[in-house]
Amino acid sequence: MNVVSMKALNYINGEWVGEEHDRLEVFNPASGEIVGTCPKVGRVETQLAVDSAYTAFSEWSSLSVYERVSYLKKWHQLILQNKEELATIITLEMGKTLKEARGEVDYAASYIEWFAEEGKRIYGEIIPSHNKEKRMQVWKKPVGVVAAITPWNFPAAMLTRKMGPALAAGCTIVVKPSSDTPLTAIKLIEYCHEAGFPKGVVNIVTGSSAIIGDELTKNEKVRKITFTGSTEVGKKLMEQAAHQMKRLSLELGGHAPIIVLDDANIDKAVQATMASKFRNAGQTCICGNRIYVQSGIYDEFVERFSKEVQKLKVGNGLDATTDIGPLINSAAVQKVNEHVEDAVSKGASIVTGGVYAYGKEDNFYLPTVLSNVKSDMLVMREETFGPVAPIQKITSDQEAIELANSSPYGLAAYVFTESMSRGTKIIEKLDFGIVGWNDGAPSAAQAPFGGMKESGIGREGGHQGIEDFLETQYVSIAL
Ligand code: SIN
Repeated sequence: MNVVSMKALNYINGEWVGEEHDRLEVFNPASGEIVGTCPKVGRVETQLAVDSAYTAFSEWSSLSVYERVSYLKKWHQLILQNKEELATIITLEMGKTLKEARGEVDYAASYIEWFAEEGKRIYGEIIPSHNKEKRMQVWKKPVGVVAAITPWNFPAAMLTRKMGPALAAGCTIVVKPSSDTPLTAIKLIEYCHEAGFPKGVVNIVTGSSAIIGDELTKNEKVRKITFTGSTEVGKKLMEQAAHQMKRLSLELGGHAPIIVLDDANIDKAVQATMASKFRNAGQTCICGNRIYVQSGIYDEFVERFSKEVQKLKVGNGLDATTDIGPLINSAAVQKVNEHVEDAVSKGASIVTGGVYAYGKEDNFYLPTVLSNVKSDMLVMREETFGPVAPIQKITSDQEAIELANSSPYGLAAYVFTESMSRGTKIIEKLDFGIVGWNDGAPSAAQAPFGGMKESGIGREGGHQGIEDFLETQYVSIAL
């Protein structure tokens, strides 16, 4: 596919713009080749995008939700009709395997479908009045113009997970995608254009995150920022947004523990750990990042898990036989290698992997299993965001809980036990927004996604996911 020929422009007020601007080059992490370019716009264009969303808000929010939903349904259909095209763009600019990219397109579309339906269930309330001459009501209103700042690891799904509820609620939106993967986002906005959304309702700008982000957080017309990315950037956005008390949804870093207890079904635990750990080459916020296995089954788990890991084929995501694609860039591979080297220097053993797959110049790292891991190793303290599975031995449920909660992050955790009582007691003590119990793939459009502690604020998906785009207005009526 010739992605370079795609219309990679910005979209402001229903017009494709940015032809005259400097171009941002987008690289294929598997080959280093340029797969496309898009405009590098700045503050002025961001202001124009916000102005257009602001002007469009009045009419868009006044439509009936059924009218708004009709656009979302068309958009949903177009995404599914163009699944192959979109999946190929995702693989080319992000690196994940085509199989995973197709899965991401379905996942992305499922958020639009879910929120198109959920929009129809934005209910207010009637409060019983203390005074018979008064009626008391709660009305729900869209927050206004939303700025969505989206990441590179799920360039389609993280965009639809924000745009779906925002548009259904009656908000208008300006999207700023990651500069690593803007082509998927621009393609999704092309489908919005085709679906006929009124001008100004959706807008996209690409370029420097610092400049565009600064404008989006300072611009008084933006009432809400929704962001997926690092905790470090999330904290900066929160500081900037505080000046105008903008609404915020932040889906930030994770450092997910996987706890495998001695009564676990080992087959299930191995398969689910594979699914969690190696999804997107380890580059998801909810990938298991540190694995705690109870002493009675530690050796057996390490052996069976490592055998499965050795079967994984590393390569270009476009190759149908590839299981693990490249990491996003050289800094990401270096970080993975540093974590492995640090662990080995402190006494960990490499059971499999532990090296660059094709040399230091490339972005591929062999899926790695580390045993004899201890809590002081970097790999157990920081999010690795790569295909490394460090396995630490634990003795008790209490130790598992303490170690799991010892991180400032609280996005996802996984527990493997066949005991209802043990599982329940442990999960009740875990400070994590998402828990997979004998399940390595908990994400779904109809379920709330988000973290506790430094993993963020708010929830995306589920009926909770639309709440963050609504204001509550109490109306007291004297008759
Ligand atoms: C993420 O990595 O931020 C999203 C993963 C998911 O939705 O499952």
